[in-house]
Amino acid sequence: MRQPHRLIVPSVLAMAALAATVASCGAPAPSNTQAIAAGAKIFAAKCQKCHGAGGVGGKCPTLNNGNVQKSFSSVGALQGFIKGQMPLDNPGSLTNTQASEDAQYVWSLYKGK
Ligand code: HEC
Repeated sequence: MRQPHRLIVPSVLAMAALAATVASCGAPAPSNTQAIAAGAKIFAAKCQKCHGAGGVGGKCPTLNNGNVQKSFSSVGALQGFIKGQMPLDNPGSLTNTQASEDAQYVWSLYKGK
């Protein structure tokens, strides 16, 4: 009766270690598709004229090439930057909710891994 437990415990520990490794490997991608959709509308209205449609860039930094993920440690950090600094021509004009949605959208633009 005790034999199976000796096998289960190490494999549970191994799985926990694996999960911890995966979880610590960079910030999780946002998964709230409604927030991302709302963020896309905000981006089109307030950010696209400088950063290009879908963040392809132009006269201002490209946002879909992974540089955002290098500059900011998490979606939350990106949200703080957007809330405080962007849009550059009217900083502080977004609500916290708008900044959150926009941050989740911008974070989702980078498709590389
Ligand atoms: C008037 C032009 C303009 C508008 C509008 C604008 N930005 Fe920017 N943005 C810039 C410029 C210039 C920079 C680079 C200088 C800086 O970081 O302050 C920048 C930098 C950024 C960065 C940092 C990029 C990086 O990799 O470090 C992010 C993220 C960003 N903008 C998001 C947004 C979002 C989201 C909006 C809309 C709410 C927005 N911007 C609107 C001009 C603009």
